[in-house]
Amino acid sequence: MKLFIFALSTSLLRASAYPTAADSSPVGFAKDNPLGATTGGAGGETVTVASPSALKIAATDTTPRIIYLAGNFTLTSRLSIGPNKSLIGTGSGANIFSNGFNIKSVSNVIIRNLGIRGITGNDGITIQNSTRVWIDHNEFESGGFPASGPDKFDGHRSDNQVLVEGNVFRGNTAEALSTYGLVIPNDSPNTSPNGDYELDGFANLGASKLRLFCVNITRTGNFTEAPYTYTLTALGDVEEAVKAGAGLVKI
Ligand SMILES: *[C@@H]1O[C@H](CO)[C@@H](O)[C@H](O)[C@H]1NC(C)=O
Ligand SMILES: *[C@@H]1O[C@H](CO)[C@@H](O)[C@H](O)[C@H]1NC(C)=O
Ligand SMILES: *[C@@H]1O[C@H](CO)[C@@H](O)[C@H](O)[C@H]1NC(C)=O
Ligand SMILES: *[C@@H]1O[C@H](CO)[C@@H](O)[C@H](O)[C@H]1NC(C)=O
Ligand SMILES: *[C@@H]1O[C@H](CO)[C@@H](O)[C@H](O)[C@H]1NC(C)=O
Repeated sequence: MKLFIFALSTSLLRASAYPTAADSSPVGFAKDNPLGATTGGAGGETVTVASPSALKIAATDTTPRIIYLAGNFTLTSRLSIGPNKSLIGTGSGANIFSNGFNIKSVSNVIIRNLGIRGITGNDGITIQNSTRVWIDHNEFESGGFPASGPDKFDGHRSDNQVLVEGNVFRGNTAEALSTYGLVIPNDSPNTSPNGDYELDGFANLGASKLRLFCVNITRTGNFTEAPYTYTLTALGDVEEAVKAGAGLVKI
């Protein structure tokens, strides 16, 4: 499953469960799921960190903690975030450079108001085998690899199902949404000159205004209704809501 979310100013893709500017806590599946609401470090101590070493100490253990990040952090290695953590950039947002985060085999992590930039040849945030992870109002920029290409800002979390509703897309690209399992060769020149073959994902289009030529849905699957309640933003209001609410400093 590939879901491209382009950061170009002319492009806009909105996931229906994305919070509006007014949402200050998890909504949708992050709130209404069988394991309980995603609360991050709620109930634990609150700390402010301003150096990579302080961030590492605060973010990697198992103790519930709300961590405010102040300023810029250049990490010399990827940080494995522990369970029950909220990581929140202060003020105009904090920036993480060079190495990103791993969220592996943990539960209950919230990440907001962070710029994650210049991560070369890896994900900004990798999530594996984890539950209750809420990531919103962040900005992601890749590093220099690959130099160009449609997968520059993308990972490809295959064999998933998504329900795509209430999206507006503007801009020019071959694919805004693709379930095609073949990752283009540009994405992984080091592992295979022919691209990586993975299982196609599944997608269903609900209320949507994606331009059809931007969509390559190879399997539709059975995810046609979300198991929680939510209100779709009216299509005519989507563009304004995204511009008002997306990115840093909007929480
Ligand atoms: C995370 O917090 C929950 C309560 O919200 C607690 O049951 C669990 O033990 C905590 N996990 C760790 C690793 O401290
Ligand atoms: C922090 O990083 C941002 C984004 O690159 C940059 O604009 C800003 O000048 C940096 N601040 C400091 C204090 O280095
Ligand atoms: C997945 O995470 C659970 C803890 O939530 C752990 O017990 C299990 O070993 C992990 N599985 C893998 C494949 O890492
Ligand atoms: C769309 O998916 C099909 C597989 O069904 C593939 O042959 C085609 O190359 C894909 N289109 C693009 C633009 O990737
Ligand atoms: C939906 O499709 C998935 C993937 O094929 C399958 O594992 C799952 O059992 C299906 N669920 C239902 C309710 O049919």
